[in-house]
Amino acid sequence: MKDERELTVQFRPSGHRIKVIPGQTVLEAVLAQGYRMPHACDNGVCHICSATVLDGELEKDALVNVMRCGKAQVLLCRARPAGDCEFELNALWGPNELETKKLAMQVKSIESLSADIYRVILLAPAGQNPEFFAGQYLQLLIPGLDSAFFSIANAPGSREIELHIQVHSDQQSAVTILNYLRDNPVVKAMLPLGNSYLASVPDTDVILVAAGTGFSQMKSLAEYLLANEYSGQITLYWGVRQREEMYLRQWVETWANETSQLTFVPVSADNKDNEWPGHHAELVREVLAKGHQWANSLVFVSGSPTMVYTALDALGPSGLPEHQFFSDVLEYAPR
Ligand code: FES
Repeated sequence: MKDERELTVQFRPSGHRIKVIPGQTVLEAVLAQGYRMPHACDNGVCHICSATVLDGELEKDALVNVMRCGKAQVLLCRARPAGDCEFELNALWGPNELETKKLAMQVKSIESLSADIYRVILLAPAGQNPEFFAGQYLQLLIPGLDSAFFSIANAPGSREIELHIQVHSDQQSAVTILNYLRDNPVVKAMLPLGNSYLASVPDTDVILVAAGTGFSQMKSLAEYLLANEYSGQITLYWGVRQREEMYLRQWVETWANETSQLTFVPVSADNKDNEWPGHHAELVREVLAKGHQWANSLVFVSGSPTMVYTALDALGPSGLPEHQFFSDVLEYAPR
């Protein structure tokens, strides 16, 4: 129940809401509730904490620039709400969010995993471990390309980033990326990106469903859970059209055999038609056939939009609450 003395402050465009005790500045409330935003002097001098007032009233004596609601700039280290308020503030990160940063990374190694999949290891400068949550992705900043997005395939906590890059000879952008990584000792990357991740260890089972190189995101999630005192069960489904496309199958089977909490379910349809979508349905059928406790499970799905929505449409009626289904596709290809 809301404390009568508490006020609500909402931020746009993020939609974050915080509670503010009367007399508290917005910045004090933001920091006290684990959020982060730019601030320096905390005293109305540097103006780095300025925000636009969209709605609400502020205590007059706490303001630097304006006294009442309206499209006005205020300093959040001085602004004390007199009622519920709404601000526009682009730089605000919640307790489970990380700031996206540009990082120059050394190309440490490029290794062929199959006929067209390469494992790329990038190394951050000493003392600058890349910050990301398991399940997030990055963008490689390759000149002339704005679509070099790749899931991070390892768990957070080290200087290294592992990527699985598929390179068909007829896909010019993938060829350009691979050649750039081969020719340049350092590549810049923007990270972390994506909202399909685990910021902390859940107390539920975790179902990981991947098609093709979508496996890389699932590898990061499983590695993170198994390294962090997770007590539930992980089931990893990996679907491909042809058996030889499962580029780390043997490695995953060994991993699952040695790890009682990890069950691996490979699904290969052995159909040579690259356009054939049947393996999506096959994969989802396998997931449903296992009969998981959906109400007590988190499900992460990575693959084409067709595959992800096939899974979503099947799992919802089976009892999986919508907020327990995660996929980057929901963000970049909403229907
Ligand atoms: S933090 Fe410097 S003006 Fe607010």
